[in-house]
Amino acid sequence: MTELKNDLVLRALRGEKTERVPVWMMRQAGRYLPDYLKLKAKYDFFTRVQTPELATEITLQPVDQVGVDAAIIFSDILVIPQAMGLEVLMEEGKGPSLPQTMKTQEDINCLITEGVEESLKYVTDALSLTKKELNGRVPLIGFAGAPWTILCYMVEGKGSKTWDKAKQFAYTQPQLAHQLLQKITDITINYLKAQVKAGADMVQVFDSWAGALSPADFKMYAQPYLVQIADALKDDAPVILFPKGTWYALEDLSKTSAAGLGLDWCISPQMARQFTGNRITLQGNFDPSKLLAPIPEIKRSVKEMIDGFGTQRYIANLGHGIMPNVPVDHAKAFVDAVKEYNHE
Ligand code: CP3
Repeated sequence: MTELKNDLVLRALRGEKTERVPVWMMRQAGRYLPDYLKLKAKYDFFTRVQTPELATEITLQPVDQVGVDAAIIFSDILVIPQAMGLEVLMEEGKGPSLPQTMKTQEDINCLITEGVEESLKYVTDALSLTKKELNGRVPLIGFAGAPWTILCYMVEGKGSKTWDKAKQFAYTQPQLAHQLLQKITDITINYLKAQVKAGADMVQVFDSWAGALSPADFKMYAQPYLVQIADALKDDAPVILFPKGTWYALEDLSKTSAAGLGLDWCISPQMARQFTGNRITLQGNFDPSKLLAPIPEIKRSVKEMIDGFGTQRYIANLGHGIMPNVPVDHAKAFVDAVKEYNHE
């Protein structure tokens, strides 16, 4: 094993001292970099995801070109429904769609739950190759979608502003919803463990649509499964939970086996610290749209963000994924502003 030359993110997650704040950006691989757009013009989405050489090249681009302190493997959360036997289409400008939606017990019985590791071997191959190519420069992040967010896509069949069909499914057939959530959870645990074995130094669980639920329903349909995943991985690698839009759950989640919590920009750093009492490392929470502001404004806001979180037990990041229309020099300005923060 090559030793890591830059392990700032991992040290922050372990609660150890860091000489400067580490930084990476959600959805940093792909989306806005010109070199990515060239590959995107040549190969369709799942070819990019399923070809380890391409996935590795895309994963390394933000490390080489923007100077982030971690690499996140180029893949997608929807490879899990795919491995469970569902068709996933990715149409340009439309986002993902899953033609075969979950409605009945029969639908759930038909899902594949065995051999998922073999069908996702291209992900673990991509991780091993990326780990080799990184040669210890920065840690490598594996990831998966949270069970609730995956259920959203499996029931709704596409993206949604309200996720009302997914919620209707949960509210009218709660027992089926829990069955499905448990199946996704079991597979996700095995999948994340396989990612760690293949070279991921840490993993992040994206609960992108947790904020569609009320606090009571988050506690019912999302939190228990996030906790199961964090518990199951605790001896394998640090886990960051990113349940977007659930500031009310931060206190509970700070008392779980997770090593870090990802935050969206709808909470102040001070409040997030107050809820989590320095028990856990916090990650976030720059408004991704603010990367469209003039560079001096980006720099000013980054300083304000770090002043609020403090420099320890903290990983600078965006509050959600970077957008495709962010100029590369603005993304760099964000990363540089974190690195240049005065650590006196
Ligand atoms: O840093 C990275 O970008 C790593 C790779 C990554 C992708 N998707 C690649 C991708 C990661 C971490 C994801 C996670 C993901 N995928 C989430 C959780 C994070 C979040 O943003 O909330 C979700 C909800 C998805 C589902 C998904 N995949 C959507 C909604 C879309 C379409 C819109 C978009 O661009 O996000 C995708 C497609 C997708 N996944 C693209 C990329 C680079 C764009 C398609 C393309 O470039 O051809």
